Amino acid sequence: MAIITYLLPAIAFASTVLAQCSNSATLTITASADASGLASCTTYSGSVAIPTGLSVPTDQNGHQDLSVDGVQVITGNLTVTNAIMLASLSFGSLQSIGGFELGGLTVLSELSMPQLTKVDQLNFTALPALQQLSFGGTGISKASSILITNTGLSSLQGINNLEKVNFFNVNNNPSLQNISLQVTSITGSLDIEANDGYVTGLQTSFPLLETAQNMTFRNCSSVSLPSLANVTEDLGFYGNTMQSFAAPNLTTCGGLIFVDNTDLTNISLPMLTSINASYQIANNTQLKIINGFQKLSIIGGALDFNGNFTEVDLPALTQVKGAFNMQSSGTLDCSAFQTDKSSKQVIKGNYVCQGSESKPGGAGTKPSASASSTSKSGARATDFAVPAVMGGVSVMAGLLQAVL
Ligand SMILES: *[C@@H]1O[C@H](CO)[C@@H](O)[C@H](O)[C@H]1NC(C)=O
Ligand SMILES: *[C@@H]1O[C@H](CO)[C@@H](O)[C@H](O)[C@H]1NC(C)=O
Ligand SMILES: *[C@@H]1O[C@H](CO)[C@@H](O)[C@H](O)[C@H]1NC(C)=O
Ligand SMILES: *[C@@H]1O[C@H](CO)[C@@H](O)[C@H](O)[C@H]1NC(C)=O
Ligand SMILES: *[C@@H]1O[C@H](CO)[C@@H](O)[C@H](O)[C@H]1NC(C)=O
Ligand SMILES: *[C@@H]1O[C@H](CO)[C@@H](O)[C@H](O)[C@H]1NC(C)=O
Ligand SMILES: *[C@@H]1O[C@H](CO)[C@@H](O)[C@H](O)[C@H]1NC(C)=O
Ligand SMILES: *[C@@H]1O[C@H](CO)[C@@H](O)[C@H](O)[C@H]1NC(C)=O
Ligand SMILES: *[C@@H]1O[C@H](CO)[C@@H](O)[C@H](O)[C@H]1NC(C)=O
Ligand SMILES: *[C@@H]1O[C@H](CO)[C@@H](O)[C@H](O)[C@H]1NC(C)=O
Ligand SMILES: *[C@@H]1O[C@H](CO)[C@@H](O)[C@H](O)[C@H]1NC(C)=O
Repeated sequence: MAIITYLLPAIAFASTVLAQCSNSATLTITASADASGLASCTTYSGSVAIPTGLSVPTDQNGHQDLSVDGVQVITGNLTVTNAIMLASLSFGSLQSIGGFELGGLTVLSELSMPQLTKVDQLNFTALPALQQLSFGGTGISKASSILITNTGLSSLQGINNLEKVNFFNVNNNPSLQNISLQVTSITGSLDIEANDGYVTGLQTSFPLLETAQNMTFRNCSSVSLPSLANVTEDLGFYGNTMQSFAAPNLTTCGGLIFVDNTDLTNISLPMLTSINASYQIANNTQLKIINGFQKLSIIGGALDFNGNFTEVDLPALTQVKGAFNMQSSGTLDCSAFQTDKSSKQVIKGNYVCQGSESKPGGAGTKPSASASSTSKSGARATDFAVPAVMGGVSVMAGLLQAVL
């Protein structure tokens, strides 16, 4: 009996602590008292939300500040959405969070988390006033996914020392000038797009990146991938303004795509031996000479080139499993590819190669009338039995199916 009377108060005390610092429901912070309750926990097991309608003091502009010191770990998500008057948010001691979501915070200009190094998922959406991040030391070193869209950020300082990331998507941040990450591998997808609203272009650099799954670069002014060795799915470049692209260590990739890169004059992939899926080069208006693929041997899908080029060298080609479409408005010597098609049997699928066209088209289009009579075409109308113009990917897939 005596033991029980001793134990009861102890249990009651423990459960009080538990109730404060652990909760299966999301803890909602709407007033300063909620914030100081959270601050008393070193580790908070659960999720925390700061929604709209925060009742903390406002300044003369109606702006609010919220500061939570003390809590070091939030095991669940920290979600701050639509608190439209929140101008400054600070978690002075926070080191680690599960998901970190900030969304629709129209006046948030200061985000201070000087101890933060670990976030599982970071989602920042619609933060137009936020120009910089203030995270701990060298910043966040571990994250599984990063999504940053529609922010005022001018740099990603604070997340640029990530070592590994699965998903990385940074789009529509009009002031962003530079993305430079120290990651060595990206196990999911990387998408960088439309970050060129106010700046002339976004420079991107991945000096240590060796392996990636699927990378898409749009609207960048430079892309640096000096260590990249293998990409398992697509490596795609669309609407970028860089003049040259080089991947000196790339040996294999899934698909390889260059579309609408209007300033591109030089592509150099000297170690690339195989492209497992489709290989597309289209509408790169300044690209005249394509000779940076000296070791390319195997193309597992279709080759689809169109543009205004005058020279294409693929001297090591041994196998193109899908269709072959090469159309240019420039004068083009197709004799090497004609040999690849006919005597060497390198090209297995439908074959089109034609220069001096008025309207060079993609795979599935018939070569247009020659702009001059000096065409060195190897194409015959019967080489191409597939109906024209459906939309790039499905045409490529269809062509590949047709020959396999
Ligand atoms: C955190 O948010 C994600 C996405 O909304 C959700 O799937 C996950 O269950 C949340 N985690 C917790 C602990 O609430
Ligand atoms: C972050 O965004 C991704 C992609 O939209 C989503 O799958 C994930 O659930 C989000 N996580 C959180 C914590 O909001
Ligand atoms: C881009 O950011 C990295 C890392 O912050 C920095 O080292 C580099 O100098 C920056 N480059 C430019 C052109 O601003
Ligand atoms: C390129 O690959 C070679 C051979 O694997 C390696 O020695 C070199 O360090 C790599 N270069 C870069 C920049 O990663
Ligand atoms: C890249 O792939 C090649 C050929 O499959 C392989 O030899 C090499 O080890 C791979 N490199 C990396 C960094 O995964
Ligand atoms: C390319 O395909 C081959 C055979 O299908 C496979 O062994 C290899 O891993 C693939 N490489 C890449 C980079 O996807
Ligand atoms: C690669 O990512 C892009 C953009 O997210 C997507 O459109 C494409 O289908 C992906 N490719 C593969 C092979 O998954
Ligand atoms: C961004 O790239 C896309 C192609 O993905 C292109 O259509 C668009 O015009 C580019 N935007 C600008 C501002 O260059
Ligand atoms: C193309 O780029 C490669 C690699 O940067 C370089 O070695 C080569 O000289 C360039 N070619 C031209 C014509 O500028
Ligand atoms: C290239 O430009 C032409 C004409 O603007 C367009 O019809 C075609 O779809 C473009 N090709 C690609 C792959 O975007
Ligand atoms: C192709 O490039 C030549 C110059 O090399 C230029 O005269 C011609 O107008 C270009 N044609 C097209 C369709 O861009």
